Amino acid sequence: MSCRGAEKRVALVKGDGVGPEVIDSALAVLAAAGADLEFVPVELGYGRWKRTGKAMAEGDLDLIKTCHCILFGAITTPPDPEYRSVLLALRKGLDLYANIRPFSAPGLDFVIVRENTEGMYSGVEKLDEEEATTLRVITHRGSLRIAERACAIASKRQKLTIVHKSNVLKSDTLFLRICGETAHRWDVPFEDMLVDAAAYNLIINPKKFDVIVTTNLFGDILSDEAAGIVGGLGLCPSANLGDKYALFEPIHGSAPDIAGKGIANPVGAIRSAAMMLEWFGEAEKAKTIVEAVEWALAHGIVTPDLGGNCSTKEVAEAIAGRLV
Ligand code: NAI
Ligand code: MG
Repeated sequence: MSCRGAEKRVALVKGDGVGPEVIDSALAVLAAAGADLEFVPVELGYGRWKRTGKAMAEGDLDLIKTCHCILFGAITTPPDPEYRSVLLALRKGLDLYANIRPFSAPGLDFVIVRENTEGMYSGVEKLDEEEATTLRVITHRGSLRIAERACAIASKRQKLTIVHKSNVLKSDTLFLRICGETAHRWDVPFEDMLVDAAAYNLIINPKKFDVIVTTNLFGDILSDEAAGIVGGLGLCPSANLGDKYALFEPIHGSAPDIAGKGIANPVGAIRSAAMMLEWFGEAEKAKTIVEAVEWALAHGIVTPDLGGNCSTKEVAEAIAGRLV
């Protein structure tokens, strides 16, 4: 389906394990939706590491920067003490500071907006025999730009919940203040909530939430919790957005336990592809994909992780079949 000369250039990182299985499904659905994209295959991850000793090499980022965005499957972490996370390298290298994770299920619909470049994942760390430290860095600039993203989303929805731990962490008083000021400026209704209370409320009363904005580590943990609430990791998409580039990926990993069996749930990858189309300004096509996914879920055309007996391919074909 690659179409030379198209204006929308997508770096295609299928990755390892179930990555290629779910990305092939997403490609079939994009083709059925009539998406006009040029794909540039880039091999990153465990397979590449096994062949060459490196999961990602010099030059890969330059090639990726010739594209508008990345469609990413998942990669297996190589068993190498020298290994540096490919995803972290992409997030840093392309300054993908906003991690947008929508969660939906019948009667449920909320979005987690996670800061993606600082906080507990600052990389400022020290490990000695007697003591280990990680510096939690919250900056004015980092908080402001994630708050702006969250408010832009919340302004089209109901409200914003700022999740933090400012009763204990000084760094979060800055985050909370800047998010609150930004919400005021946008005239977005907002509340704030301590992260432990948010973790509890997500389980007890997830309908309470609409748009959550939070720091890196809290967002990482709360979004896996949210995936459990809406039915599983295989369902959930994500967008990693910067001001120039973007990366779209299902939130699950390479699932080595089911890789090669043809039963991986392709929905997270297909929904990620729909988010990519929306980012490209193709909201109509994105919407038809989202609706086709919902139709398949409502009709029990699902993989074993959701209690069904369809294969990855059967689910993808059913969804693609709704679009042509
Ligand atoms: P995982 O997300 O790969 O799997 C966790 C559980 O969820 C497994 O039981 C798996 O079978 C199931 N699962 C995941 N995706 C599924 C899907 N599409 N359909 C049905 N079931 C699905 O997490 P795990 O096992 O902790 O990590 C496996 C590898 O993936 C590791 O090497 C890890 O480092 C890597 N990883 C990569 C990520 C990425 O590339 N973005 C994210 C998370 C983990
Ligand atoms: Mg995670």
